[in-house]
Amino acid sequence: MRLSNVKCVVTGGASGIGAATVRRFVEEGAEVCILDYDLPAAETLANELGESVFALELDVRLEPAVQAAAESVYARWEHVDVLVNNAGSELNKTYDETTLDEWDRVIDTDLKGPWLLCKHFVPPMVERGQGSVINIASLNGLVGFPLSTAYGSAKGGLVVFTRDMAIELATTGVRINCVCPGVIETPMMERWTDLMPDKQEAQSMLRGVMPIGRMGTAEEVAGAILFFASPDSSLCQGAVLSVDGGFTAQ
Ligand SMILES: NC(=O)c1ccc[n+]([C@@H]2O[C@H](COP(=O)([O-])OP(=O)(O)OC[C@H]3O[C@@H](n4cnc5c(N)ncnc54)[C@H](O)[C@@H]3O)[C@@H](O)[C@H]2O)c1
Repeated sequence: MRLSNVKCVVTGGASGIGAATVRRFVEEGAEVCILDYDLPAAETLANELGESVFALELDVRLEPAVQAAAESVYARWEHVDVLVNNAGSELNKTYDETTLDEWDRVIDTDLKGPWLLCKHFVPPMVERGQGSVINIASLNGLVGFPLSTAYGSAKGGLVVFTRDMAIELATTGVRINCVCPGVIETPMMERWTDLMPDKQEAQSMLRGVMPIGRMGTAEEVAGAILFFASPDSSLCQGAVLSVDGGFTAQ
């Protein structure tokens, strides 16, 4: 029970890595608020997990909605210990095929969203002198890939945003760190293979991407997120942890 009585907010907690994180946090004794724009899926998970979880509808791209969500969560809990900026949106297109709407969707969800969440959730943490923020970036934010200019720019921006925030928050008692997952078997990855002409070939290619020879699971990423949420990571500030089966070690 490493998160006993700890109050956690997880964006994009209705699916994939976010849902695995919500489950793990609850197993470790936390109370969790899921913020997701897929409210039915978020509520289904919250109902399954019982009283320690509740869900609110939120599109992380919209500042008035983020502000309202923060007011609602702080009215209910008084304080928040952990914020996981996990909601994400992918795009697999070349730079010249990417439309302005697609670019904005990806940058707004994967980079502006975490900033807005920090802007409205972190000041009360600073006032209280404690808290932990975990941003979920990607190996696409660390190395170049084809078809990844929008997504990679957003995730690379999130890595640097984490470091900049870490310096701004350094003496406040609030920690902020970043997890960079590799190829993880989730609905997002499923959507990517659905777009490929031969799905099975794409899946077998993905299994070969990481040196360990398989895709990761959402639960394995949740374990790394738990580390940053718990006091075990008390000296980590602005850390960028690759959880990618050795990909960035190459
Ligand atoms: N799956 C991978 O291989 C992989 C690899 C590296 C990084 N990531 C990152 O991990 C995070 C989780 O990815 P996943 O694979 O679990 O994806 P997923 O698609 O299974 O889940 C994403 C969740 O975010 C929610 N969401 C999307 N846009 C939103 C918005 N604007 N506002 C609120 N909620 C929104 C969705 O409803 C969904 O519940 C993302 O940030 C993703 O970029 C995933």
